[in-house]
Amino acid sequence: MDLINTPIKIGSKTVRNRVTFAPTVKFGWTDDSGIAIERFARHYEDRARGGAGLICVEATCIDPYGRLAPSQLGLWDDSQIEGHRAIAEACHRHGAVVIVQIHHGGYNTHPECGPSKGPSSVNWRDRTTEALTREEITDIRDKFIKAAVRAKKAGYDGVQLHACHAYLLNQFVSPTVNLRTDEYGGSTTNRTRLFCEIIRGIRDACGNDFIISARTPGAEPTLEEAWAIADAYIEAGVDYLQVSSGIGPDEVAYPEDLTYSRIAWLGVQMHAHVGGRVPVSVVNGILKPEQARFFVENGLADTVDSARALLADPNWARAVTDGSGYVECRNCKICFWSPFMPHKCPAVAERSKTDPDCVDIGT
Ligand SMILES: Cc1cc2nc3c(=O)[nH]c(=O)nc-3n(C[C@H](O)[C@H](O)[C@H](O)COP(=O)(O)O)c2cc1C
Repeated sequence: MDLINTPIKIGSKTVRNRVTFAPTVKFGWTDDSGIAIERFARHYEDRARGGAGLICVEATCIDPYGRLAPSQLGLWDDSQIEGHRAIAEACHRHGAVVIVQIHHGGYNTHPECGPSKGPSSVNWRDRTTEALTREEITDIRDKFIKAAVRAKKAGYDGVQLHACHAYLLNQFVSPTVNLRTDEYGGSTTNRTRLFCEIIRGIRDACGNDFIISARTPGAEPTLEEAWAIADAYIEAGVDYLQVSSGIGPDEVAYPEDLTYSRIAWLGVQMHAHVGGRVPVSVVNGILKPEQARFFVENGLADTVDSARALLADPNWARAVTDGSGYVECRNCKICFWSPFMPHKCPAVAERSKTDPDCVDIGT
């Protein structure tokens, strides 16, 4: 059997193949209650039915004050558990392992959802940010842990902590935008302290059979610093690393002859560094089945995360694992720059001609 079709153990769960659905927010599908309506369950069910081994449900806020948009999904209140249960059950019905990404925007919090707060007071994308107090940090830590407990009650197999893409947990680990002088700033141990406290709190509350994944940067701003951050997460008990980009700009000398994206290359370097201690996933620009197979069959990554290819066609995982036909992502990046709905994804527009039940973005 090809490696891409070989099951892999992530934490205590067995994932049937090496193709995962990367988190993709759909602002505008819900209202400011943050409750998942039925459309979410159908969207994720389609990807599970389409063969994805693991599904990571989109960035879901742990606090209404950290949202990226007023219509972001939430797990800050028990009233939100039921909608997530429908998603988890829908994915399990088709044999996928399903985790949910828990998230706080930090400096990137939408102005309608709260002040721009994070580790320090810095100039950030035309806003002046406020430094969180120690009490506020403790409150956020506890809210991440409570959100994970709700995720477990909803039936998810685990959570992914979003520590990439310049959001709150990424801001804390970054030596460039975390300027604190207390025990949450300075050394790598101090900058990863909040994340590690959250990992240990979730482990205590949710047990060993609950997956804790970290979406972690491949460079922050160097490769070596990103590896030191990942080492701290592994030491604290993380089960899985899903590697993407950090605060940027990074300080990495990329090979000139790369045949795949720089972010995927960062994931490959992380995979080599981790050396099998936990599985490592790569992402970015993996739009064709042969590209996904390349990373896994050549031992460059344990799993491959796909966002846009699986938005374009929910059956893309099957195209990777058994060569079935699929509708290809055009790499137009419309969805990249504007996850606010509605927008027009040409692949989804093509698919909806033959699939009137298509509930995807772009329709
Ligand atoms: C519409 C859209 C929404 C996204 N939402 C999230 C998100 O909720 N959390 C996250 O970590 N990344 C998010 N991303 C980034 C993707 O997970 C992924 O890293 C990126 O799209 C590159 O992978 P791809 O080339 O397979 O699309 C989003 C990307 C898109 C296109």
